[in-house]
Amino acid sequence: MSLTASPLRDLLLAGWLPERASSVAEGVDHVFGFIFWLSAFFLALIVGLTVLFVVRYRRTAARPDPEASPDHSTRLEIFWSAVPLLLVVVMFALSTQVYLAMTSHEPGQEPLRVKVTARKWSWWFDHAGGKGAKDFHMVAGRPVELTLASADVIHSLYVPQFRLKQDAVPGRYTKMVFTPTKAGTYPVLCTEYCGTNHSQMLANAVVHPDQADYDAWLAEGRQQELSLVELGKKVFEDQGCNACHSAEPEDPKEKGIGPSLHGLWGRVEKLAGGATVTVDENYLRESILKPGAKIAAGYEDVMPPIPLEEREMLGVIAWIQTLGGAQGQGGHGGDGRRDGKAGEKETKE
Ligand code: CUA
Repeated sequence: MSLTASPLRDLLLAGWLPERASSVAEGVDHVFGFIFWLSAFFLALIVGLTVLFVVRYRRTAARPDPEASPDHSTRLEIFWSAVPLLLVVVMFALSTQVYLAMTSHEPGQEPLRVKVTARKWSWWFDHAGGKGAKDFHMVAGRPVELTLASADVIHSLYVPQFRLKQDAVPGRYTKMVFTPTKAGTYPVLCTEYCGTNHSQMLANAVVHPDQADYDAWLAEGRQQELSLVELGKKVFEDQGCNACHSAEPEDPKEKGIGPSLHGLWGRVEKLAGGATVTVDENYLRESILKPGAKIAAGYEDVMPPIPLEEREMLGVIAWIQTLGGAQGQGGHGGDGRRDGKAGEKETKE
């Protein structure tokens, strides 16, 4: 970053902005500070002169009519055109310098590549090395290259401490390049209004202090064999299903975006259009892979398809069965539980 740190500029912004945790944060703050204080100066100057002129040239008994004034001054006009032109050229140069640093790598270190999938209403981060997570992991001092995609509408990834924001746009990939500089956990926000749960579309940006710590995270959970039910619960949380579906009994006053999964198993569900369906493995599977196929009555067709792997699918179904089900339909519940166990044996690697 060729913008040098200035103690004065740091002082002028002190305490107003969150801490800086990326390679571009300081440059962004300085451009922001420059434009902010320049604007504040002109606001004070213009408002001050306006007030002064209003008082000084107001209508009085001694001066009932306006005095004659010149209608043209070439020197003055050149002055008030050239000065703002110069100032916006300086703004352009300073911000372009920072913008270029945001879109290119410093040569040398191999960047950590992370693929981001945004959808209503959660983030998913596929890290190099094959680990997907609902949180975004990286290493302090190592460049990161993000490739962003959206499964539905426009979202925007924003980490205030990094001073970086990038849209995730359906139908194309966008990129974001930077180097995190400080280990810690920072909030990831969505800053493009994307519907009901936009404000809940949150994740953590976890900056590991060194590569070894990151590698330990990457290896974590790899070996460990989760039971199907544990896996299902984990998938429910990791995939962000909990943004729309509750695992608690439905509160009629606070209906979720999607039906609660509590007591769903084995129930006869009313569908939009009047048909009914008994909630079994195949209905759950179809509703996860092709959510639009059978919409529960009273709900919108808003869920994106969630392409789960087979064992994850079995896990989610097994877990839903533990959330209580229709009484007096023991046949379904019993069969389901046995199916779940059988599936577990078959699919374990
Ligand atoms: Cu996603 Cu707002």
